[in-house]
Amino acid sequence: MDLMEMIRNRRSVRTYRKGEIEEETLRKVLEAGLLAPSGRNRQPWELIVVRDPQTLKQLSECRAGGAARMLASAAAAVVVTADSAKTDVWTEDCSNAMMLMHLTADAMGLGSCWIQGRLREAPDGRTAEEYVREILGYPEDFRLEAILSLGLPEEHPEAKTAAKELEKKVHWERYEGQVE
Ligand SMILES: Cc1cc2nc3c(=O)[nH]c(=O)nc-3n(C[C@H](O)[C@H](O)[C@H](O)COP(=O)(O)O)c2cc1C
Repeated sequence: MDLMEMIRNRRSVRTYRKGEIEEETLRKVLEAGLLAPSGRNRQPWELIVVRDPQTLKQLSECRAGGAARMLASAAAAVVVTADSAKTDVWTEDCSNAMMLMHLTADAMGLGSCWIQGRLREAPDGRTAEEYVREILGYPEDFRLEAILSLGLPEEHPEAKTAAKELEKKVHWERYEGQVE
C-alpha cells in the first residue's frame, strides 16, 4: 500500500475479535508514535502500554457516556501521557504521536480508535485524567492526552475520499466564504 492508500483506508475501528497482537507488531506501532515530530524536538510523551484484560476493563470506564467502552474488548491500549513541564505544545506533540500510531496500526491490519482523555470527564465526575492516573500511577504533573485502543478488527469501515472536502474546506490564496 502506498501512503495515500493507507490514509484513505484508515478508519476508527471499535469492535474487536478475540486474539492477541504480536509483540513485534505492537512495537512497530509504538515506534511510529515515537518518530512523530515534536516542537523543539522535546518529545514530551510517555506511553503506557496496557495489555492486562482487567486493567483494560477498568480503563474502558474512564469516560462518561461510554466513549471508551471498546477498551473492554481490546487486546491492548496505548495511553499517551506527557510530561507537560517539558513544553507548552505537549498536546500537539502527543496528537502527532497518536495519529502516527493510529495510522500505522490500521496499515498493519489492526483495528484502532482514538479515545480522547484531555478535557473529558469520567462517570464519577473526576476528570478522565485523574481517573486514569489512579489506575496507571503516572505522576501528578503528567497530563493525559488520549488513549489508542488496539485489537484484531471485527469489521473495518470503508475507505474514505476527500473529494468534496477539497472543494469546500480548502481556500486558495484567500478565504472567500463557503462554496455551497
Ligand atoms: C481528537 C479526537 C478525539 C476522539 N475521541 C473519540 C472518543 O473519545 N471515542 C471514540 O469512540 N472515538 C473518538 N474519536 C474518533 C472519531 O470519532 C473518528 O475519528 C471520526 O468519527 C471519523 O471517523 P474515522 O476515524 O473512521 O474516519 C476521536 C478522534 C479524534 C481525532
